[in-house]
Amino acid sequence: MKHIFLIGFMGCGKSSIGKKLSFQLKKPFTDLDSMVEVKEKRTINQIFEEDGEQSFRDMETSVLISMFDTKLSYVVATGGGLVMREKNRRIMKKQGIIIYLKASADTLYERLEGDEKRPLLQTEDPKAKIEQLLAERGPIYEKIADKIVEVDGLTPSEVCKLCVDAFEQEKHERRQRRIERESRNRILVMHGPNLNFLGIREPEIYGNKSFDDLMNYIEVEAANQGLEAIFFQSNHEGQLIDRIQEAYNEKMSGIIINPGALTHYSYALHDALASIPGIPKIEVHLSDITAREDFRKVSVTKEACDGQIFGKGFEGYKEALEMLKGLMKPAEAVVGTTGEKAE
Ligand code: DQA
Repeated sequence: MKHIFLIGFMGCGKSSIGKKLSFQLKKPFTDLDSMVEVKEKRTINQIFEEDGEQSFRDMETSVLISMFDTKLSYVVATGGGLVMREKNRRIMKKQGIIIYLKASADTLYERLEGDEKRPLLQTEDPKAKIEQLLAERGPIYEKIADKIVEVDGLTPSEVCKLCVDAFEQEKHERRQRRIERESRNRILVMHGPNLNFLGIREPEIYGNKSFDDLMNYIEVEAANQGLEAIFFQSNHEGQLIDRIQEAYNEKMSGIIINPGALTHYSYALHDALASIPGIPKIEVHLSDITAREDFRKVSVTKEACDGQIFGKGFEGYKEALEMLKGLMKPAEAVVGTTGEKAE
């Protein structure tokens, strides 16, 4: 998101509000019409008279394209007819946030009456011309805008305040969409106490392969399923709980957890897992906990999970990934979706 484009009919206040907004947001201001005038060393009226509207529209598109090159982030007042070209709409969408300053025909007429700098209104009946142009352009302004600010009856300061709010809200919504997009297909694979000692600890039960070997195995199997595995291991109950809560805030698509010995007595871990709705969770154990000491036969965390797999070594994680994928919301199971805002 680079620039803030103010769109709307001539007279809706794009230049005056744009200057105020630029001051408020501490961003430089520019006006596309002025950019054309400076580049051409002629006024808009002269360009219309000498070269006609189409040439002016080409000049407008070319200065709009040049906005890609600037390193700064501008508040940009646009010409009222700019949005009529599909190419211009695409360029603006790519370069930033679009705010439509929406004014009624009455307000516009009040503001524009007698203004000789507006070539399109030099007609017998400017009010009818405003109504006709507004009927053509209004729906396009609305469709392309990220946010609409109604200006009728408001002072410039009030409109500016609404624009700041609209900008902040749009920024927030885009950030949220980005987080959602990035977290799609992302799962958390958690390990509790002593699992980092795989390969060293009781190899007759857990095998000779290291914890790193297990991570590599899961990473590859997850990728085969179109999932991105994020790993976390801790020997501390509280850290595991904190990570589960973070996973919720990060909108992870699922959790695979081997809580180690905490499985058998940590109600706090059970509660943490039970506290995050909407995220499927699978509990995994390398060994067959039902065939070992009695204290291992009980899992207090299992109830907070959607499935449990034990006694299958590394393979158990592959099964857990498949199970998790089956439980993920359909939209999240699709690889490569962009999550773009629907039109
Ligand atoms: C384990 C089983 C637990 O009983 C034990 O405390 C572990 C590993 C497993 O993966 O088999 O640390 O979770």
